[in-house]
Amino acid sequence: MKKKFTVAVIGCGGRGWTYATLMHAKEEFDVVSLCDLNPEQLTKVNGALNLPEDCLFDDEAKFFEKKRADILVISTNDAEHVRQAVLAMEMGYDLLLEKPISNNRQDIVKLLDTQEKTGRQVVVCHVMRYAAGIKKMDEILKTGMLGKLIAIDHTERVAYWHQAQAYVRFQKITPDKFPTILAKCSHDLDLIQHYAKSRCETVSSIGKISHFRKENTPEGAADRCLDCKYVETCTYSAKKIYIDGWKNEGCPPFIWPYSKLSLKNPTTEEDMYEALKTKVQGECAFKCGVESNPYVVDHQMVQMQFENDVIASLKMVFAGKLGRLIALYGTEGEIVMDEFTDTLTIKPYGKEIEVMKISSIDGGGWAHGGGDAGLVDDLYDILTGVKTDYTSLRESVESHLMGIAAEESRLDSGKIVHVH
Ligand SMILES: NC(=O)c1ccc[n+]([C@@H]2O[C@H](COP(=O)([O-])OP(=O)(O)OC[C@H]3O[C@@H](n4cnc5c(N)ncnc54)[C@H](O)[C@@H]3O)[C@@H](O)[C@H]2O)c1
Repeated sequence: MKKKFTVAVIGCGGRGWTYATLMHAKEEFDVVSLCDLNPEQLTKVNGALNLPEDCLFDDEAKFFEKKRADILVISTNDAEHVRQAVLAMEMGYDLLLEKPISNNRQDIVKLLDTQEKTGRQVVVCHVMRYAAGIKKMDEILKTGMLGKLIAIDHTERVAYWHQAQAYVRFQKITPDKFPTILAKCSHDLDLIQHYAKSRCETVSSIGKISHFRKENTPEGAADRCLDCKYVETCTYSAKKIYIDGWKNEGCPPFIWPYSKLSLKNPTTEEDMYEALKTKVQGECAFKCGVESNPYVVDHQMVQMQFENDVIASLKMVFAGKLGRLIALYGTEGEIVMDEFTDTLTIKPYGKEIEVMKISSIDGGGWAHGGGDAGLVDDLYDILTGVKTDYTSLRESVESHLMGIAAEESRLDSGKIVHVH
């Protein structure tokens, strides 16, 4: 009989909800325990699972008193990952670990040492690897049509509203010292590393927080969007992002990003209004003071040189819509994936150009282009050793070291930093 894995989830926010519900729907997994410091989050996720009270923990110490499942999903906030991952591996859990895994070299060594000592499996949640468009690019690359890869040009377009809520308003309250390049671009660094297929030698980076600063506050703006005279006109108005955005999407019952504002399922307009009056999402993005956090930027550029001579550039910029633009240039052809125009363009030099729609590729879905579901679909095969092509801890470490080096460079006026 096929082995079934039991699963516990610690951190039942947006990501915990996604993994718990996706895994609950699969016969290979049995979600048996949940932990979150916030009882409201526990209730929200358990609404989909119906676990008995004694399987729910709002106290981390109690949860870790004993091993509760085969696999632990760690989807707490960034700063908790290293400590919880080390403890969990020592207790004998295999891990599905959210990114970013760490923000410094010492903790990365600690994670690797613990994994070596305990022999546990660690799958890092680089879900973009499992997105339909990315898998298609892998398939095309395997045919050799690109020849030798020469350069990667990667742009992470952060939708203006997402920038304002996740990387400005939330960053203001987080005690985490995680630079934006790791908080926002770990998938991008992972993909660049995955395509380059070599160790990164040197990195340089520039970037600042230049827009979301107190001095750019519209004249006479209030502290909270709902009290502000610009509530209907400001591009970053929380009312426009959440209430109008939700209505424009047809009032969906419970989807991101509205499910991060109101934990009620189904979402209601009244509850979102209530949340905007008290939660950080309702604060003025300019007045919230995020510029005093030295690790936050609203735009950044990274240049990378790999040991096999591949060069790469990564830009994180404001944009109208979420979506990556990835161009790979080889000696025999080029591939461009543009999530915004929903196209994958294959250009073998001197031959006919082929354009396909990403959304028509099998497995293309909404959450990270189908990547969230794709990772959970592959997880059983990864854990049973059938699938070996995934982002292991060791692989993820490479792209995290690139991110750490990028931040070191950015804080030192863009000087060239050696990654290893
Ligand atoms: N893989 C991806 O594509 C992706 C996307 C978004 C976020 N993330 C990462 O996933 C993680 C979670 O993000 P999120 O958006 O779900 O955040 P969230 O704030 O919605 O959820 C985090 C949850 O962890 C809980 N928590 C915090 N400390 C805890 C502790 N010590 N013990 C138990 N629970 C604790 C919080 O109460 C909260 O409910 C973050 O590290 C984030 O960077 C990954």
